[in-house]
Amino acid sequence: MANITFEQQDYPNVQGETVLDTLLQQRIELPYGCRSGVCQACLMQCTQGQPGRTAQQGLSSQQQAQGYFLPCSCVPTTDLTVQRPPLACRYHSKILATDQLTANVLRLRFSSPIPFQPGQSLQLNINNVQRRYSIASVPPQQAYIEVHIECRPSGQFSHLAQQLQVGDPILLSSAHGDCTYNAVSAQQPLLLIGHNTGLAPLYGLAQQALQHGHQADINLIHACQPQQFYLESELRTLAQQYPQFHLHQLPLFDNPTAEIATYLKLNWPQLQLQRLWLAGSEPLLNAVAKSAFIQGAKRQQIHIEAFSSTH
Ligand code: FES
Repeated sequence: MANITFEQQDYPNVQGETVLDTLLQQRIELPYGCRSGVCQACLMQCTQGQPGRTAQQGLSSQQQAQGYFLPCSCVPTTDLTVQRPPLACRYHSKILATDQLTANVLRLRFSSPIPFQPGQSLQLNINNVQRRYSIASVPPQQAYIEVHIECRPSGQFSHLAQQLQVGDPILLSSAHGDCTYNAVSAQQPLLLIGHNTGLAPLYGLAQQALQHGHQADINLIHACQPQQFYLESELRTLAQQYPQFHLHQLPLFDNPTAEIATYLKLNWPQLQLQRLWLAGSEPLLNAVAKSAFIQGAKRQQIHIEAFSSTH
């Protein structure tokens, strides 16, 4: 039986039970959502022991290196010491704008009490429901934080977000993540593939690259169902302003993974020179990354920003 140490107390972990179950059974208040490793609402940090690969799936390499893990997916095999993440939502912000861009996408802009970069992600907390989102805005020109929230009829967080009004308070964590335009050569072509609201971090990243004078081509592929494209006029304006920026809208129908892979094969048969950023739902991105790798993309040149599918 493994032992879980949390806030200087030891808790026995019954075989087969997750760390989240062990702590909740002790009536410890912790945020959580899907309980299946998707929404990342339960994120914690492990300071001693190994939480295991399954419990770190979908986290950035920086988060993994720092011991962050998802206790709902962690069935420990050794003793663990765990703590609440310093990512806790402790910064107070105010809603500046709320726009329903399509039936499925809500854009929120809020004041920024924290430093951030486009492509990083942060946790938002509304009425103790917490979710992680990627940042689409570029400081200092855009001094606000912008996120795109996928709205689903059963989405607990998106439902709360749709009720927000300008001036309402919202809690945030600090911003983290390495899906950012750092240390990229201005001469290297960039291929950005965003599935649904995976457009958000890539829109931010493309704007930042252009502002930094990126010279090589930046191809942004937005892949989603035909009625779900959004930010079209903003993206087309960017393409008019910067000849090296190209927008491609890829409508998806029955089999998104295969359709994106086929599109890549037809239009970018050689990916050796490209730096790739993929953002969207995790299983789809992993499959697309595999196809890209087969087409010659170098593993270290592929960056994945995986999203939750629970909203
Ligand atoms: S509750 Fe753990 S990832 Fe959703």
